[in-house]
Amino acid sequence: MKKIITIIGARPQIIKSSAISRAIRNHYSNQLEEIIVHTGQHYDENMSKVFFEEMEIPQPKYNLQVGSGNHGEQTAKMIEGIEKIILTENPDALLVYGDTNSTVAGALAASKLHVPVVHVEAGLRSFQKRMPEEINRIMCDHVSTLLFTPTEIGLKNLEKEGFSLLPAEHSTIDHPQVFHCGDVMYDNSLYFSSVSDEKATVLQNQDWKSNYALITIHRDHNTDQKENLNAIFKAFSQLLDETDLHFVFPVHPRTKKKMAELLNQVTLEQIQQHARFHFIEPVGFLDMIALEKNAKIVLTDSGGVQKESYFFQKPCVIFREETEWLEIVENGNATLVGAHFDRIISETKRLLSKTDYTHPNFYGDGKAAEFICTCILDKM
Ligand code: UD1
Ligand code: UDP
Repeated sequence: MKKIITIIGARPQIIKSSAISRAIRNHYSNQLEEIIVHTGQHYDENMSKVFFEEMEIPQPKYNLQVGSGNHGEQTAKMIEGIEKIILTENPDALLVYGDTNSTVAGALAASKLHVPVVHVEAGLRSFQKRMPEEINRIMCDHVSTLLFTPTEIGLKNLEKEGFSLLPAEHSTIDHPQVFHCGDVMYDNSLYFSSVSDEKATVLQNQDWKSNYALITIHRDHNTDQKENLNAIFKAFSQLLDETDLHFVFPVHPRTKKKMAELLNQVTLEQIQQHARFHFIEPVGFLDMIALEKNAKIVLTDSGGVQKESYFFQKPCVIFREETEWLEIVENGNATLVGAHFDRIISETKRLLSKTDYTHPNFYGDGKAAEFICTCILDKM
């Protein structure tokens, strides 16, 4: 029996982790023991607890309750807590997802204690080191022993950074191994799509349910810079005038806070009072899938939501200048608009009227989680 510690903390990691926990439960429970550590980076009920319940994620054995804070403070508390748990549990490997502060904390704590790091969603790059996530990903990849890339582009990025793509019997931190396995979120979207059809409630009795755009925003570049936040909201106001769409916006807690601090009061009031603009609380994953599946278009700066738009064949306007999921932009399903008022409006209208969308399979076969479990068992 191999023992792995899985680190989760932020909403997208909790959601991602469900795929591997499910694979372990269904296929590897006599070979792999998973101990879940929640750093507490996200803690509101609708940013954390809701997912454990509806996605059948095992309860964490440890919750570090680190909470919010500046990067150094938050990451340091996590490293301290994770280090203690590693010393107590003595795992064979530590698994981290994505690119948050919880990811880099897990990777640093484990690698210094000579515990092999497994990085799921390795190799993604924005080539913007001003993004905290870019620093977290690069640091994590370069202390990992097994790296699982969700896309071809991720694989090529790692090759360019000097990782060998040759197969090996055994992997170590000095001889890491890279696998292109597809995206665990594709596994999850396939698995939970029909569950959402049965159980989601968010669209019930809503007059907007067949004519809306779905919005999410939370990147610091958009929320914390007054000019960008205001440009985006002014564009929403204009789009309300120029289309008959409703706009549905589950608001991330960071964004809620920053809207109150930085948004022009007149713009905010105009939008709040508009009959076709709907601010809602963050929703669970089953409701989120329903919102994605039934939207006319998705407007977002979220990494996960960009891809889910693609899984559910919806066009996507991305409030960023670059993306780690470049394939959906190159294929014409998504478009990069930054926080530019004019581009947000023109590109939203362009994607709404475009009809020649294609959806090649960029994200694997829906069995990335099983593949990862097999590699953990075989290669370390
Ligand atoms: C974090 C990740 C980001 C990821 C996002 C997913 C880092 C550096 N950033 O960004 O990569 O895309 O999660 O959602 O790791 N807050 C609450 N309640 C919560 C959680 C947060 O009120 O449950 C508020 C707090 O005011 C906090 C702020 O949101 O200061 C930001 O939270 P934090 O986890 O630091 O960063 P995110 O913006 O959520
Ligand atoms: N999500 C959700 N409820 C919401 C908003 C997002 O369940 O109200 C899900 C979404 O479907 C995706 C994940 O959260 O799976 C993305 O997380 P987020 O946008 O917070 O972070 P990112 O992916 O940008 O790191």
